[in-house]
Amino acid sequence: MKSDVLLKTDLPLKPFMRGKVRDIYDLGNELLMIATDRISAFDSVLPNGIPYKGKVLTGLSVFWFNFTRDIIENHLITANVDEFPDEIRRYSGILEGRSMIVKKAERIDIECVVRGYISGSAWKEYREKGGVCEISLPKGLKESQKLPEPIFTPAIKSKTGHDINISEEKMADLIGNELTERLKRISLQIYEKAFDKANRNGIIIADSKFEFGISNGKPILIDELLTPDSSRFWSLEDYSPGRTQKSFDKQFVRNYLEKIKWNKEPPAPMLPDEIVKRTSQRYLEAYRRITGRDIIK
Ligand SMILES: Nc1ncnc2c1ncn2[C@@H]1O[C@H](COP(=O)(O)OP(=O)(O)OP(=O)(O)O)[C@@H](O)[C@H]1O
Ligand SMILES: [Mg+2]
Repeated sequence: MKSDVLLKTDLPLKPFMRGKVRDIYDLGNELLMIATDRISAFDSVLPNGIPYKGKVLTGLSVFWFNFTRDIIENHLITANVDEFPDEIRRYSGILEGRSMIVKKAERIDIECVVRGYISGSAWKEYREKGGVCEISLPKGLKESQKLPEPIFTPAIKSKTGHDINISEEKMADLIGNELTERLKRISLQIYEKAFDKANRNGIIIADSKFEFGISNGKPILIDELLTPDSSRFWSLEDYSPGRTQKSFDKQFVRNYLEKIKWNKEPPAPMLPDEIVKRTSQRYLEAYRRITGRDIIK
């Protein structure tokens, strides 16, 4: 399994950016987005890679981009390396299954979050204020409880890298009323359609974050879509409100890091093989449940 791990790329192409997980190159009007096998926990990238993680993230994004095309256009041009330009196809050994060529868009700097269940920062805000993003919620909700209906809770990135929830009104101040209404409506539609699909296959998508950009004067969906890195995936059979849920992907990693009492200051410690293996299996399982296919042919 180890030979399959890609931690970092160093292609002789113009860099666009390197995130915690993805390496992105600038191709002019297009971007080459590569999902590596890096994994982060508690805001640090770990020294180990997780076999097949990058392929799962890319495979799921491609699946959902196709699944939501009737709701909104997206940035995906192709994830098939045979269709990549010649000068890039020569790296197909590295790129196969884990990369996409996408339209470069002008990013709209709002994280469009939809929540069907109350968890994470929304749970914290609800306990302090009785609502989230100035949406008031019923009294007495338990942690991880299903909300009466999905809510739109936009956020902006802060300088420290943590997101800050904002009200819809604040979002409208930043990008205008019309665009706010449109992104809200689209985000809710995507969430609801994807939620039903995943739920039928044993996964609860508790919440998810969407990013949009402007291309040819209109909003399109960009970035990654409905992956375990941009959403909370819970296992339907293990779900029980009143506590934090096991996340589908990183639970073994977080548990291990808690167990060894890592102080959460970088550098992060090396994970044992067993934790890496079980984490990889969780990612593969998410892909299998959602798409009905296997990444490993
Ligand atoms: N089609 C696109 N056009 C322009 N920018 C895009 C497009 N798709 C994604 N992006 C941007 O590229 C970046 C993706 O990088 P990546 O997700 O690796 O890093 P990040 O989100 O900043 O950090 P993290 O590693 O925490 O996810 C984001 O800033 C995203 O908004
Ligand atoms: Mg990201």
